[in-house]
Amino acid sequence: MKNKIIAGNWKMNKTRAEAEALITELIPLVADTPNTVIICVPFTDLCKAVKLTRGTNIHVGAQNCHWKESGAFTGEIAPSMLKELGVEYVVIGHSERRTYFGETDATVLARTKAALNADLKPIVCIGETLAERQSGKMEEVLTRQIIEGFEDVTAEELQRVIVAYEPVWAIGTGVTATDEQANDAIKFVRGIFARNYGQDVADALYIQYGGSMNDGNAKGLLAMSDVDGGLIGGASLVATKFAAIVHAHE
Ligand code: PGA
Repeated sequence: MKNKIIAGNWKMNKTRAEAEALITELIPLVADTPNTVIICVPFTDLCKAVKLTRGTNIHVGAQNCHWKESGAFTGEIAPSMLKELGVEYVVIGHSERRTYFGETDATVLARTKAALNADLKPIVCIGETLAERQSGKMEEVLTRQIIEGFEDVTAEELQRVIVAYEPVWAIGTGVTATDEQANDAIKFVRGIFARNYGQDVADALYIQYGGSMNDGNAKGLLAMSDVDGGLIGGASLVATKFAAIVHAHE
């Protein structure tokens, strides 16, 4: 049995002062878990988060990075800049970035490769919209996102990648996929990776579920055979709720 990887995605929430309060409260609450704990915080909170979590079991991630090392890309951050701060993980291709900021499978791939080259661990998000699920296109969409979004990611590199299956209809909506829906979709996703990289690599790959996971439903979701963890938005903003998810399956 793999341990679970539980990652908080704070999105555009928490000032530095608020981040300090949340992290300080969280540290003792998750200190004794066998699971991996990651918090993905806004760029402006990264320094504070790295400093506060030094010597603890909490790992720090960013929520995006660019594919170039430097240059005329106003508003973007290079992977090496994150690495220099002590950041370990980076969320890539979140559905909010795909929807609001023009992220495509091609840019997801470019950002993922750049993150890997900088020795960061990408948390790559995939998932179908409600319309895609209802029109029977879920498998087609997930297949495309994986084929195009991981096109030249090698098997060796894939060992440093976490995949987050996040059905768009479940993100921030309070509507969670059922345990079975989450598990079935993740099994499907794992099957595509198995086809491309072999069963062993696919079995070792961590695939999280994300979308309205909370302290009430985490236990059931994390108990499913293929759900290797969670990417948690709203519920990661409250230390006690996030800690309860971290401890939900140990
Ligand atoms: P949610 O967000 O838990 O608030 O639905 C999950 C995510 O977007 O990663």
